[in-house]
Amino acid sequence: MDARDLIFYQIYPRSFCDSNGDGEGDVQGIVSKIGYLRELGVNAVWISPCFQSPNIDNGYDISDYRAIDEKAGDLDSFCKMIEIFHENGIKVILDFVANHTSDKHFWFEQARSSKGNPYRDYYIWRETPPNDWQSAFGGSAWQFDEATGEYYLHSYAVEQPDLNWENPKVREEMKAVVDFWVSKGVDGFRCDVLDQISKDFQGQNGNGPRLHEFIRELFGREETKNLFTVGECWSTDGDNVKLFCGKDRGELTTVFAFRHLCLENGRFVTEKPKLEEVCRRLASWQTHCQKLGVLNTVFFGNHDQPRAVSRFGNDTVYRFESATALGAIVLLSRGVPFLYQGEELGVSNPRYTDISSFNDVESLNYYNENAGIVPEAELLAQINAGGRDNARRPMPWDEKAQKAWLEDYTNRKEINAQKDMQAEKSVYRTYQKLIALRKAEPSLRKGEFVCREVTERGFVFSRKDAETEITLVCNFETPSPFDKEKYDGEYLFGNYATVSSVLQPYQFLVFKKRL
Ligand code: GLC
Repeated sequence: MDARDLIFYQIYPRSFCDSNGDGEGDVQGIVSKIGYLRELGVNAVWISPCFQSPNIDNGYDISDYRAIDEKAGDLDSFCKMIEIFHENGIKVILDFVANHTSDKHFWFEQARSSKGNPYRDYYIWRETPPNDWQSAFGGSAWQFDEATGEYYLHSYAVEQPDLNWENPKVREEMKAVVDFWVSKGVDGFRCDVLDQISKDFQGQNGNGPRLHEFIRELFGREETKNLFTVGECWSTDGDNVKLFCGKDRGELTTVFAFRHLCLENGRFVTEKPKLEEVCRRLASWQTHCQKLGVLNTVFFGNHDQPRAVSRFGNDTVYRFESATALGAIVLLSRGVPFLYQGEELGVSNPRYTDISSFNDVESLNYYNENAGIVPEAELLAQINAGGRDNARRPMPWDEKAQKAWLEDYTNRKEINAQKDMQAEKSVYRTYQKLIALRKAEPSLRKGEFVCREVTERGFVFSRKDAETEITLVCNFETPSPFDKEKYDGEYLFGNYATVSSVLQPYQFLVFKKRL
């Protein structure tokens, strides 16, 4: 497998497709949409956790790494699903949540029962907190536990205790989890907050001294070295990317880096970042990884991010245009593209007026911390803009309102798969074309990335090998003069019916030149 040939689609199982109407997405639902994904053209999926979990953090709090959540299906149906994906030419990677378990995991239930329990050292306990680390979801990361009178570390929710990777037994257990899923046929893993598994208690929470040793121990083995592995590594920003995925390192295939998604001052803000700056960061990251000879990923969305079209584009007047322009940037860039469910339909952020419409632990904690301090309307506007529930609402397959674990999209009637696929201006069909082009043109998968222009008006880049040069011209919202003479190649397609001397809002154009 050449990882550069892969085009990923992320499935968030709980919200993807509910086949039995119980309000929870399930394995049979996923199976029923494999045809849809094949038609879209993707050749790999990342399936977010649907293991046994109390769902405090929506499946990222796992209570049994080898069991499928009973509302989603069972192990047999899950393995059958992997087979069907493979029969359709689609690779499957699963989430590997290595930093923490659920507090309902057997290991933690044992660990918290007494100081002398053999599982005690699977987690991180202290008589007093050794630092002032904060949980990513608010409050101290150290939780006092009455039963044994000590504090345990939870970098995320209180119900997500961090594993102690210094303990060789933990490392063996986690290797066994990886091997279990490899034996079931999976092609790799997306490794949740992987750069946090080694701790430096004197410094920041992440990127500890034994991190690379631990990753190598996990993925540098004969049985695992050919897997596709992508680490969620918030600390990657610069030359350290080479440590994670340099060719000779025996660690990961690639990483998710987040610089281009960290422009706002925190998660819950209503100001929009400048698309120019987003693209500038995206371009510089690709150029940087290219120079270092490492493989990067490209993405605008995932289950932790608000909808890209609302955040970076214009989800009212130019929804089709801006959704497809963002799609063109992702799908023609250097690296492995990752699409998030619904992005291929231009799904936008819904708007709610009451906190009861939200579910995410991060949003609810933020609300509780700020209620009465920040005016209610502003608080809700912030959560509507930045909250993770934006991406987690039930996928709008058609216009029928859905009763689900999380309140439905407020705009399902306007935006749904059935409607978009038949529309004259179809986001789905434009994504299809872009994907087909990426598959047909080696230069888009393996060629050089050349950034030509990033200005307040737009983004222009080329991908180039010995035979071909493909150029993407992407205008932002303000119409701009366009000099076609500058592009002497053949015009392939774009998201407007005509090309004139003025680029329209979010117009993109793809040119191909034989060299
Ligand atoms: C990652 C996941 C996120 C989760 C967190 C803790 O960032 O993507 O959804 O809440 O890790 O597992």
